Amino acid sequence: MTLTVLHDEHAIAGRVADLAQRIAASVPADLLIVGVLKGAFVFVADLVRALDRLGVTPEVEFMRLSSYGRSRESAGSVRLLGEPPAAISGRTVLVVDDIADTGVSLDFARRFFAERGAARVMTCVLLDKPSRRRVAFVPEFVGFAVADVFVVGYGLDDAERYRHLPYLATVDGDANR
Ligand code: IMP
Ligand code: MG
Repeated sequence: MTLTVLHDEHAIAGRVADLAQRIAASVPADLLIVGVLKGAFVFVADLVRALDRLGVTPEVEFMRLSSYGRSRESAGSVRLLGEPPAAISGRTVLVVDDIADTGVSLDFARRFFAERGAARVMTCVLLDKPSRRRVAFVPEFVGFAVADVFVVGYGLDDAERYRHLPYLATVDGDANR
């Protein structure tokens, strides 16, 4: 497998700060942030601290969605694993994920919170691959748009590898070797 740096730590920090500015300008004080595990764990950690610097004091929760397993392709149907994050009714919810690919996961998450009475649901992704969409889904906040390449690092994995990398990289070669 060959890794090629796509965005380094400095570039990511700059984009996270920009995103925090844009988010801070359009959310209420009682914001509920829900990170989608596992991929969003690094992004959420940096984003909430960037928001704190701007005076935003969100509640932070996480949810786990059924996912790819060890494959690089989406199974196409999504369900919640485990308990729903509590106290959704009347809240402004910002769902945070690492990447919007087919859009199926975040489309599910958006409906999930809307159906449970959220006052408003917004989504934020570090990466967006709009060319891969299978459903009409547009995130409100996007860090970087990417072409149809497989990205790892900064929380994103390839069969559970590379989540720990502090930068984003493209990976070529077959998965699961
Ligand atoms: P979607 O439901 O197809 O939009 O898929 C979203 C999930 O697929 C993301 O939360 C990631 O976990 C995973 N995913 C999609 N593209 C990539 C990629 O390039 N690298 C790593 N994970 C990816
Ligand atoms: Mg994910």
